[in-house]
Amino acid sequence: MKGFFEKDFLLISHRGASHYEPENTLRSFRKALEMGSSAIEFDVRKSCDGRLVVIHDSKVDRTTDGKGAVSGKTLDELKSLDAGCGERIPTLEEVFENFGGRCGLVIELKEKGTEEKTVSLIKKHGLTKEVAVVSFRGDYIRSVRALDPAIPTGLITVFGLGCVKKALSLGCRVVAANHRFMTRQLVLEARKNGLFVCCWTVNDPKRGEKLAGMGLDGVITDKPDLL
Ligand code: G3P
Ligand code: CA
Repeated sequence: MKGFFEKDFLLISHRGASHYEPENTLRSFRKALEMGSSAIEFDVRKSCDGRLVVIHDSKVDRTTDGKGAVSGKTLDELKSLDAGCGERIPTLEEVFENFGGRCGLVIELKEKGTEEKTVSLIKKHGLTKEVAVVSFRGDYIRSVRALDPAIPTGLITVFGLGCVKKALSLGCRVVAANHRFMTRQLVLEARKNGLFVCCWTVNDPKRGEKLAGMGLDGVITDKPDLL
């Protein structure tokens, strides 16, 4: 498999094919691949017994049949919850075991204290070339870079203004802005500086086409079949 950044264009499924299947589940990631995604994006948090799990919110309430903070539950407690269609909240390791080497993996760190284990699991599974560890938080990105500068990192931002400069100052390979703030100028600036540039989260095919026409390297979507 080619390295994550060697593809011409990446279709990145946001929390898997999350428009069709329960977000951040193995089922949703399988669907994303069936629909032709070249990469999957997912969110990482930590259980109270220190295991890395794939879930977006800090609480389990919205996406499972349980209640309470992810960080207040053990892995066993998290695994007892229904994350939709009988799916369980996956561990990061389960995602690597099932999808490592099959597609790009965009790993968003949602909380402090996830950096070290994430890096060590990436190395254990030999996935350095297949991942981008991304975050809204510069301090998480700095931690990952300090642990292993060979692991590609990415800055996620809402606004485009200043994001190229910030991504470069953090040593990122990737910058991802909200599609509403994506401009041709931002794409040019990012690419001129050697950054891989993508935007989130695009679910309208016409908007997707317009953005692809700006020269983006990738688009993050809940609906990989429509783009
Ligand atoms: O990767 C971009 C996007 O996933 C960031 O927003 O809230 O869906 O994690 P969110
Ligand atoms: Ca995310």
